[in-house]
This record gives sequence, structure tokens and C-alpha cells, in this order.
Amino acid sequence: MSADAPGRAGGQAPEELRPILDAAGEQTERMLAETELRLARIAAPTELPGGAGELATRAGATLAAGGKRLRPLLVFLCGAGAADPPPAGEPLVAAACSVELIHMAALLHDDVLDRAPLRRGLPTVFATDGRDAAVSTGDHLFARAFGELAATGHAGAVQTLSIASSALVRGELMQRADAWSADVVVARYLERCELKTASLFETACRLGALLGAPGPGAADRLGSFGRQIGLAFQILDDVLDLAGAPGQTGKRRGTDLLDGTVTLPLIYAREESTELAALDLRSVTTPEQAESVCATVAETAAFERATALALELVADAKRGAASMDLDRIEVLDLVADSVVARVS
Ligand code: FPP
Ligand code: MG
Repeated sequence: MSADAPGRAGGQAPEELRPILDAAGEQTERMLAETELRLARIAAPTELPGGAGELATRAGATLAAGGKRLRPLLVFLCGAGAADPPPAGEPLVAAACSVELIHMAALLHDDVLDRAPLRRGLPTVFATDGRDAAVSTGDHLFARAFGELAATGHAGAVQTLSIASSALVRGELMQRADAWSADVVVARYLERCELKTASLFETACRLGALLGAPGPGAADRLGSFGRQIGLAFQILDDVLDLAGAPGQTGKRRGTDLLDGTVTLPLIYAREESTELAALDLRSVTTPEQAESVCATVAETAAFERATALALELVADAKRGAASMDLDRIEVLDLVADSVVARVS
């Protein structure tokens, strides 16, 4: 997959989010801007004796490299509830920073496991500075995420983030265990995606509820909204990995094949194509071979079927949100739609 968009020059939100931000209103945009500043400060802590040195430099560069900040946006939108104007943001900004930091930490570690040369169109820390640098930068961001959330004094919020972080690790382990396997079924794939991706979307929404206007009573239902759109997000990512244009995703097509990651479009395509069903996934070792498999997958209905499932999840998420008393339901709808409408 290609988690998030290439580039975030000067802390600007990606243009494709503009309609959502316009609909969300000025306060949300201010809180996102505050999140950006806070992330930069968190990456380079001054309270550490001697500072964080190269960790701070690499963490800062990672945070500046891009991302749609979808998870922070979900914290703010879910935290707003029916309040108009939305509640002042200190704990919500802390929560937004914490989920984004966990996301970044996970990507840094993921790039080590994937031996990835590029992320968001830029060289990864793994590629430029090596494994130890990438792992330790991820560890740094992971630690800072919990420090930030703990400062809110909300033990339940910290517990929620901790559960999601463990889920991410379990999902990643499942993915490694499934590598190059011909036996990965749809249910197993979905379970893995719930753990490695949807859990953090769910947590963003839960934290919004816990620390914002809706309160703990809304956490399960908002969490469910986040889980469903998170799952749809991952499915779309996996479609884009096999179908997407490198200029848009920031990566070559077929990187999941080279990693041995068996994703939904590949599972569907193997159901349809005898050629793909017979393929030993370990034999795909070059970008050219991966490209050729992508072309064969594109001849099946796999991309359409996987996208249809993502769309169903989004529709279900929107139905669930519509049943809640939320002031800015239309903005949540836009976010839900955006996870399946993107090209990177
Ligand atoms: C990117 O997805 C990776 C993840 C969503 C999760 C990675 C999790 C870990 C490495 C476990 C460590 C977790 C923490 C909290 C430090 P992908 O691999 O589908 O996307 P890609 O194509 O961008 O690599
Ligand atoms: Mg990966």
C-alpha cells in the first residue's frame, strides 16, 4: 500500500483535503495547524538533557515529509460532537499528535521490515541512514506519543492508544507470517487490516469522543465509524499498490508483491485467473515481474471487487454516523468518502 500522500511542504495540508477542511471550519483548521507546530516541537524535545540530537533531526524530517493528517482530523471531527463551536482543543491536539506519532513510528518500522527505498516519494530513513537509525527514530516517536497523551491526565485515553499500538504490531506480525502464502483467505486478510490499520483510525475517533464533547458514551459508535473507514482505507491502499501510478502514489506499482504481501486484490485475482493461481509468489523478485503480475491482475475484476468492498464499508460507516447526534456529520461523511476516492 502507499500510506498517505507524497510531500507536505511547509506544513501545508494537501490540496485534496481542501473541501473537507473548508466544510470542517476554521477552528478545525486552526487545531490542525497547532498539531503541526506541536508535532515539530515534540520531535525535537528541548527537555531532554542535550536534546534528542540526530533522533530529532530524523524525526522532524519524517514528520515534515508528508501525510494527510487524516487521523488528527478524525480526532477533531469526532471530538466536536454536537458542540457549536467545537470545544477548545488542548487535550484534542495532544490526542491528535499522539495518533499521528504512532502512525509515523509504525511507518518508520514498517520501512525497515519492507526494506523500502521510498515513502511519500522521498527516500526513507532506512534507505538513507540505515536500519538502526530508522528503528530508533520510530522508537523515539513512539515514546513521545505516549508522553504527549499521558500529559492529558486521561488514563482511559492512554489505555486506548496502548491497545491500538499492540494491535498494529499484531497485524504486522500476521502480515509477516502470511508472506508469500498461497493460503491467505479474505477473512484472514481483513483481520490483519483491522489490526494493522483500522485500529488506529478507530482510536483516533475514540480519543475524539473521550477527550472532546461527545464523551465516553459515544466512543464505541465513533470508534466503529473509524474502524470501518480505516479498513476501507487499507483496502484502497492495497488496490493502489497494484493498480496505482507511481507519480501519484510515490512508489512503483507492485511493491506488495515484492514484499510477499498478499492483499485483497491479489486474493480475488487468484480466484479468477488460473495463471495467477498457479503462480509461486516467491518467484516474483524483480520490479518488471511485479509489473507483469499487476497487468494480469488488472485483466480480472479484482480491483473493482476490492473497491466495491471498500465502498460498502464506507457506506456502512456513514449510516452508523448518521444515527448519532453529531453536528458535523456531513464533514465525517466527506472524510469517509475521501478514503475511497483518493489516488495516493
Ligand atoms: C503500513 O502499511 C504499515 C502499517 C499500517 C503498520 C506497521 C506496523 C508495524 C511495523 C508495527 C510497529 C508498530 C508500532 C506502533 C511502532 P503497509 O505495509 O500496508 O503499507 P506500505 O506499502 O506503505 O508499506
Ligand atoms: Mg509495508
